[in-house]
Amino acid sequence: MTNLELTPQLFAILSALIEERVGLSYASTDQALLASKLAGRASEAGFESLLDYYYFLRYDPNSESEFEALVNALVVNETFFFREFEPLQLAVTQFLLPLVQAGHTPRVWCAACSTGEEPLSLAMLLDQHGISSKVELVATDVSTAALERARAGRHGRRSLRHVPVPELAAKWLHLDDDGIRVVGDLGRTIDWRYVNLLDSTAVRALGGFDVILCRNVLIYFRDQLVSQVVQCLQERLRPGGALFVGVSESLMRFGAALECEERGGVFLYRKSQL
Ligand SMILES: C[S@@+](CC[C@H](N)C(=O)[O-])C[C@H]1O[C@@H](n2cnc3c(N)ncnc32)[C@H](O)[C@@H]1O
Repeated sequence: MTNLELTPQLFAILSALIEERVGLSYASTDQALLASKLAGRASEAGFESLLDYYYFLRYDPNSESEFEALVNALVVNETFFFREFEPLQLAVTQFLLPLVQAGHTPRVWCAACSTGEEPLSLAMLLDQHGISSKVELVATDVSTAALERARAGRHGRRSLRHVPVPELAAKWLHLDDDGIRVVGDLGRTIDWRYVNLLDSTAVRALGGFDVILCRNVLIYFRDQLVSQVVQCLQERLRPGGALFVGVSESLMRFGAALECEERGGVFLYRKSQL
């Protein structure tokens, strides 16, 4: 007999496991949503109870690919081209362009890039300013399914719901029967990688960056974890570099060592030049 019911005890241990591994935090009000995702994955993987599924994920050395499939099912991949566009423009015109003009090769990191619309929008702006080949753009995510779609350059029509720069959309994004196709070599200018933001060793291995975008992901983490992740991001910033979070996110209450700056309505967190 199968029993894929998520009891309060199972909710407690499974949500703790997920949070420990990828940071996603579930309140008790999210129990029904988590229950349906877990039951779907557990049944697809052939488990008859969520307790067995939990033991497998927690203790079985061969559970890695199932955990990956679960993460793919759990993460919220919501994103779209030119989302929160002013900060992207500001990152290019006020940080990357001046660095290129001064003879540097700046590095940018999109730290939770989902299906790629954010780094692709940035890549279009870099091309527009003629500095694509002078900027290194790294895009990472914890969802292998999202990264696969990003690499393939295929996107749903809803990814183009906001078009502040029609000329860039017309140049790079073509509509066909299957949705949106990224044309040319735009996607190949991006170094797509799997990185879990909780894995400080993997984060450190990425090296230093002049601009980090970590937008619309910290909202899924508890405050204590946000502080920990921000500390890691801060260490990755080069002197004078800037961290951008989502417009509805703020790091003010974490007392980060970065300085919050407002430029024309855009908030960013700056590392000192020293
Ligand atoms: C809502 S999307 C945000 C995408 C994009 N940054 C934007 O603002 O449009 C959140 C992304 O965070 C990723 N994510 C969640 N937990 C993560 C973790 N621990 N490490 C890396 N990425 C994570 C999810 O896979 C998802 O693709």
